[in-house]
Amino acid sequence: MEQGAIEVPKGLDKVIVDKTSIASTDNEGHLIYRGYRAVDLAEKCSFEKTAYLVTYGRMPDGSELKEFSDFLASNSEVDDNTEKIMQLMPRGTKVIDLIRSVVSLMPLRERSDDKVLLEIAAKIPRISSDGYRIINGMQVLKDLNATYAERFYYLLTGSDDKESARYFEKLLILYMEHEFNASTFALRVTASTLADPRASVTSALAAIKGPLHGGANAEVLNYMLRMKSADEAVKFVDDKLAKKEKIMGFGHRIYKKLDPRAQFVKAQLKELARIKNSEGLYEVSTALEKEMWDRKQIPANLDFYAAIYMYLLGIDESFYTPIFAASRSFGWAAHYLEQVSDNKLIRPDSKYVGPEGLSP
Ligand code: CMC
Repeated sequence: MEQGAIEVPKGLDKVIVDKTSIASTDNEGHLIYRGYRAVDLAEKCSFEKTAYLVTYGRMPDGSELKEFSDFLASNSEVDDNTEKIMQLMPRGTKVIDLIRSVVSLMPLRERSDDKVLLEIAAKIPRISSDGYRIINGMQVLKDLNATYAERFYYLLTGSDDKESARYFEKLLILYMEHEFNASTFALRVTASTLADPRASVTSALAAIKGPLHGGANAEVLNYMLRMKSADEAVKFVDDKLAKKEKIMGFGHRIYKKLDPRAQFVKAQLKELARIKNSEGLYEVSTALEKEMWDRKQIPANLDFYAAIYMYLLGIDESFYTPIFAASRSFGWAAHYLEQVSDNKLIRPDSKYVGPEGLSP
């Protein structure tokens, strides 16, 4: 360890490692993107408008928004080589692994960094859909001329229902950005070596897979679908806590009392459950949330309600982590640009606790 080095808590818990102007939480615990509350953006704005705001730091005017939306739409398809790479993936490959592999091999065009990053982001919905369909021996879907959320929803479900796509859009907006979360930090470490945008996004895609981060939403559905009543939810919490196991969809490094994004989705879920005649599932989920809070004072995070919400929207569980990644790729774009605009290699020190003085 270098002389004068500072020792920080494990996992960099509560350690500020750099400045950012992209996102934070405000003094009421709400997540903000560039100064706007994420839940307000989800309520009032389109995905494209929010993605522009997150990427470029300000709201677009009409022509900027049109140009941005057109760019995403016209860069959403993949080329023949990418389709061939997807066809080489063995059956059983997880969609998130396929996305990471395909992005790492995507051709890099001579474009500014922001455009390269947005092109990668624009293609993730199509890669998710085609990848899933190719792996499962199905025909890929034709394109749909629509908004980002409508097209993405259609690519996942085959449905062009605009009401469902609007519910989906709100969730996408909430998933878009969360300052120095694990995948974004992985991206910034890679970007700080001056690796290219594609390599940096590949690092982020690797980090988002884990169940402590983006993989949690798929795990939530696995246990939720096994529960038929509030009593079963209480017993489930009991068993997990007795075995000292974590329950996915609960807890957060930043939100210790309440995740406002989860509460926003919970309110939307209540509406959706009524429309879909699935009020029972909503009641089981709120019973589980209450039990976890009463027993451990650990709040539900976004992934808990998001998983049930996506299920009611008819989205296959294979897509849950890819959806998070697709939306977060716009946050990653912003962080890549911020990192390289004032770069310093991210390279911490460590405290050596192994043996010394051995001879071979
Ligand atoms: N179930 C049961 N106990 C938990 C949970 C949970 N989900 N989360 C935290 N705890 C307990 C943990 O066991 C520990 O207890 P003790 O002090 O007795 O050892 C205490 O709470 C502190 O937990 P921690 O893991 O040290 O806290 P952290 O800030 O490092 O962890 C977390 C944050 C998200 C990794 C953790 O809460 C967790 O593993 N949650 C489950 C996975 C999950 O839902 N991840 C999605 C996060 S939201 C989406 C995203 O931003 O990625």
